[in-house]
Amino acid sequence: MATVQLWETLKDSIVAYTGLSPTTFFTLLALLFAFYYVVSGLFGSSSSNRHHQTRHFQEEELPPLRPPVQLGEITEEQLKEYDGTDNDKPLLMAIKGQIYDVSQSRMFYGPGGPYALFAGKDASRALAKMSFEEKDLTGDISGLGPFERDALQDWEYKFMEKYVKVGTIKKEVPVTDAESSGEPSESTPRDVDAVKPTKDDKSETAAAVKSDETPSNVEADKE
Ligand code: HEM
Repeated sequence: MATVQLWETLKDSIVAYTGLSPTTFFTLLALLFAFYYVVSGLFGSSSSNRHHQTRHFQEEELPPLRPPVQLGEITEEQLKEYDGTDNDKPLLMAIKGQIYDVSQSRMFYGPGGPYALFAGKDASRALAKMSFEEKDLTGDISGLGPFERDALQDWEYKFMEKYVKVGTIKKEVPVTDAESSGEPSESTPRDVDAVKPTKDDKSETAAAVKSDETPSNVEADKE
């Protein structure tokens, strides 16, 4: 009974307020809802499409990671070509003359990345000193203090663990008599440090030995 009364009141109100018959009013209301769903459905799907397109675009932008390629010995000059500006080349960085493929961390070392300045270089000195200065972007680690040497060692361990070593930097030193006679002679500053009995010894000696390696057995070295 109360429901019928409520319905009558509602019909009267619709006629009084809208001037439309209840049938017309409800038909219009239904059409409005239908319109709303169609429009919101369109927007919803278009925005999710956009999202999908963006993701797809990003996937296309980043080429898939290629397996690291062993380069053997290359010069510092050649290493510069691997600074990430050429998408067809791996992204490389060196510590203590050992070159690592850091392509997986393009967000760090790639162009525009916070550590892009290290890419394509031996950044030993900068890492040891926690410096971003141009003059420290070198593999020359002569004259470092014990804390800096320790810091560098930590970086080296991190890199050895995280990245694949793909080569070594060819030392640009003139061939000496000692070298030509087959004696293990290394005259760069970083190797002068290596003879000191520090905990760096293992890797430093390893680096010195590696300089005698051929590109093919450098590869086996990573294992
Ligand atoms: C305000 C100072 C700094 C902050 C807050 C900072 C922060 C970070 C963070 C959050 C990461 C990422 C770590 C990860 O996800 O593995 C990172 C990575 C790194 N940082 Fe820094 N950093 C700072 C200073 C430096 C300095 C001074 C250097 C060297 C000169 C440096 C060298 C690096 C390098 C080489 C990596 C990448 C390591 C990798 O390849 O895994 N950072 N840093």
